Formats: sequence, structure tokens, C-alpha cells
Amino acid sequence: MTFVNEDNITDLAVERWATAHNPRLAQLMTALVRHVHNFAREVGLTEDEWMAAIEWLTETGKISNDKRQEFILASDVIGLSTLVVQLNNRFTAEATPATVLGPFYIDGSPPAKFGHDMSDGLPGIPLFITGKVTDIEGSPIPGAVLDVWQADAGGVYEAQIPEIDEARLRAKYQAREDGTYCVRTIAPRGYQIPMDGTVGHLIQKTRISEFRPAHVHFLIDEPGYVKLITHLFQEGADYLDSDVVFGVKDALVVPFTEQRPGTGPDGGVMNEPFLVAHYDFTLQYA
Ligand code: BEZ
Ligand code: FE
Repeated sequence: MTFVNEDNITDLAVERWATAHNPRLAQLMTALVRHVHNFAREVGLTEDEWMAAIEWLTETGKISNDKRQEFILASDVIGLSTLVVQLNNRFTAEATPATVLGPFYIDGSPPAKFGHDMSDGLPGIPLFITGKVTDIEGSPIPGAVLDVWQADAGGVYEAQIPEIDEARLRAKYQAREDGTYCVRTIAPRGYQIPMDGTVGHLIQKTRISEFRPAHVHFLIDEPGYVKLITHLFQEGADYLDSDVVFGVKDALVVPFTEQRPGTGPDGGVMNEPFLVAHYDFTLQYA
């Protein structure tokens, strides 16, 4: 019988977890055991530190629920979410790059037609986002659905408001037969990620900026194409080079151009100045 010591503990634990019935689970668990053991060795993990980490994880679980997902936030701020997105979405250069989903996506947004105002009278500068949804050869994807969501002018998402029963700053826009779409909303602002939880408490112990640059989220999931989860960022916005969740990519930064009152991109009359952003989404074949 082999008894445990500091030198053989990793091999023994790896051997044990290699017995997982599913080969992929065996691969995941044995690699995890190896890396976690090496982490403990590298930093000389103390018992107090390990207990503090367990308390942090416990608290992170306790404050997570169907509206708040502190573990996603934790994964986002250490760059793991973006790394996993990169590893799994190696698109061709022509395709729109993917970024993190984030913790505030709500499934089942209401359908919206070309030019629908998803801000529904909330305060803010009117913003139109227009363009086309195409494949990588530039052919339109007729009727593609763009699931869009964003924070309000105060940086608050619907998912952060308890007991709300109407969709707020989110909608599923259907592109027209020629692939063109038009989202009407209000200009997003840069915002602070939730700082009142375990992730925020950890960030406060660092010099990390807790802000995200102004952006709007998009999810496009069309049959025959790779599901695209991405954002558009406002060119010139604060925090583009320090996004706390590592989500910014060059190709996703677009100008929001100021327009004088007149006709909006949806053909309607605009009595106040507004902004227009243009972006063509290019989907990769599945
Ligand atoms: C977001 O943009 O909604 C977001 C993404 C990651 C962490 C926090 C917020
Ligand atoms: Fe966001």
C-alpha cells in the first residue's frame, strides 16, 4: 500500500480522478487536480488563506441566484470568460468577433420590428444602430434575429432591478428580407460592474478599474451559422483600454455620429439631436 506524502499526493489524486467514467471528465478533473496542486505548491498556500478562499467561494454562491450570477462575474474579471470565448470562437477574419455574454442577459425578449424603440421613453440621447446581417461572402441573411440588450443611462440592467415585469432595454429585432436591421435605443454609458459583492470586495483590494466602456450587447443565433454573442462599443468612450472584463476588440468599436433633428434612419421624424452607429454583422458558417 502507498501512503500519502507531499511528493506523491498529486499523482495519487490524479490517478483516482482518472477513473471518471466519462473520458472527457477524467481529462478535465486530472488536469484540474494537477494545476490546483501546483498552484498551492507555487504560492506556498497557507491554511488561513485556503479557508479565506473557501469562505469567499461560499459567499459568492450565497449571493448568486437566477438574477445575479457572481460566479460569471468572477470568471469575467479574471479574464477566464474571454479566454474561453476566444478558444471556442476562432472565426475567420471576415466574421464579427465574439465577446463575453456577461451576467445580465435575459432570455425571451419581445420581438421588435425595424426601428422599434426599445428604450420606451427612458431618459437618454436617442441612438439608432443600423446595418446588415450577412454571411462571410456578404450575402444577406433574411429575417435574422438580433437579440439586443443594454444598461440604462445610469448603468443599470433590467436584471438588476427586482420585481420588474416588462422588458426594459432589450428586444429581439428581426432583420428585413435584405438582411438590414435598425435598432432604436438610447446611448449606453460606461458603467461600474456590481461592486457590492464578493467580486467587488476583491477588486477593491487592487488598482483594477471596475468600469466597462459604453456598449450594447447582441446575440444572433441563426440556423446554419455559428451563434454569435458580441457587443458594439462606442468609439472614443472611456475605459476602452481598461475594460474590467477584457471584452473590447478593435473590430467592435464603432463611431456614434451626431445627427441634427430631421429624418431618422427608420424614416421617422426626430425632433431632437440623435446618434447613429452603423455595423454589419458577419456570421460564420456552422
Ligand atoms: C456586461 O456587459 O453586461 C457585463 C459583462 C461582464 C461582467 C459584468 C457586466
Ligand atoms: Fe453590458
